[in-house]
Amino acid sequence: MAFRVGVLISGEGSNLQAILDSQHGREGVEVVGVASSRAGVRGLERARAAGVDAEVFERAGYPDREARDAALGNWLDDRDVDLVVLAGFMEILGGPFIRRFEGRIVNVHPSLLPAFPGLRAIEQALDYGVQVMGVTIHFVDEGVDSGPVILQEPFELPYARDIEAIERRVHEIEHRLLPQAVALIASGAVSLAPGNPRVVRSGDRDR
Ligand code: GRF
Repeated sequence: MAFRVGVLISGEGSNLQAILDSQHGREGVEVVGVASSRAGVRGLERARAAGVDAEVFERAGYPDREARDAALGNWLDDRDVDLVVLAGFMEILGGPFIRRFEGRIVNVHPSLLPAFPGLRAIEQALDYGVQVMGVTIHFVDEGVDSGPVILQEPFELPYARDIEAIERRVHEIEHRLLPQAVALIASGAVSLAPGNPRVVRSGDRDR
């Protein structure tokens, strides 16, 4: 039986595309739905082009965030998702949603967490003057970018800081790391270390 993945987006959807290209319909992984917090974004077109159900869950369409989260959760449960992937999803999901899908939500964040959580992580890192940056894939808990780390990859910053070049480098890493994390979870190669719920064992890294 396929490992069923729901992907949440807010915009361009290049990380969604990476999952569609490298995972969807392969190795038992099926993207069964794409939900966007914004209408009219490119990521929705990418989903439909791949023949994947796509739906918009705009906060403004519901009385409050809890109602939006509940509708989104129902939509994902209707599709029987095994994993929810936040791929550039730019909104906070409330506690009830996180608990509903506990241990089954992953996020991609453009920093080496716990450094620079939250919005504008690349700008935060540049303002701080770091010499090493990176990308983190982590499980989502009820804090902001605070869940257990699944995969991380660092890179060194050139002295000349061209933000567009840095964003391209971040994306190149994200587009490899996020599908890799999905594949590891789908294959059952990811587990929490016995006795330490912060430490994720993934793939052959811990052998
Ligand atoms: C990614 O860089 C992600 O790290 C950040 O938002 C961006 C989303 O890009 N949170 P895309 O929509 O996947 O192209």
